[in-house]
Amino acid sequence: MWQIEPYTQPVQIKIYDTAADVANEAATYLANMLGERRNATLGLAGGNTPRATYELLAHTPIEWNRVTMWLGDERWVPPSHSNCNARMITEALCGAIDGLLVTPEFGNDPRIAAAKYADLLADIWVDQNGSRLPDIVLLGVGDDGHTASLFPGTNALEETQATYVANWIEPKGLWRLTATLPLLWSARQIIFLVTGKEKADIMARILDDEEPLPAQRTAAGAVGKVLWLLDQAAAKKLRPRSRISHRRL
Ligand code: 6PG
Repeated sequence: MWQIEPYTQPVQIKIYDTAADVANEAATYLANMLGERRNATLGLAGGNTPRATYELLAHTPIEWNRVTMWLGDERWVPPSHSNCNARMITEALCGAIDGLLVTPEFGNDPRIAAAKYADLLADIWVDQNGSRLPDIVLLGVGDDGHTASLFPGTNALEETQATYVANWIEPKGLWRLTATLPLLWSARQIIFLVTGKEKADIMARILDDEEPLPAQRTAAGAVGKVLWLLDQAAAKKLRPRSRISHRRL
């Protein structure tokens, strides 16, 4: 659906003292961007890092009824499971606002669920101007360089047509549902939220060595803007750069 030719896009790296500062900046930035748009779509990351941002976003004066949220990835577990990203996002954000969170349907076959979710998302992107690309996508980075559920060495990384697939994660022995590179690349803006010392090594491999890890490939192929929001701990092993802004809030 999206024959996106990846090309270098303006990339911004901002480093903050603490994870709380990153969450503050992310929530403020998102509130401003969502406020500017008539009907926005917002792709949400799972895991632990973004929870603080979601909890702050829940109290920002956004007209949430004009925002459609979706999941960059989801674990293949029932909605009530403690590992379910939709459950975490509902607890931290969607339970407190009147925005729409579009989620995949848990059932017997993750591949069918992923294909149905891709169709659902395609309906979200289309508006009276034809196919509207995803607006803003929040992503995290795992300490192995994965993002969404695009893990190193897994099949989903090589998907060039489908926008959302089921991905078998051998090391974990489980299925995940995930946005694919073509979908992530097509977003108007990708925001990576990365905090904590356990991410320092992988961030140096991604931003300094430009190792073709999933998160690096996602940023490198992005058509839109890419913003990295890191705390000092996650940025600790990065080489000094002239254009990094060390924001003090
Ligand atoms: C997920 C996420 C995943 C996450 C990274 C980082 O479903 O787990 O989408 O890609 O962003 O694993 O997770 P933490 O924020 O918990 O370090």
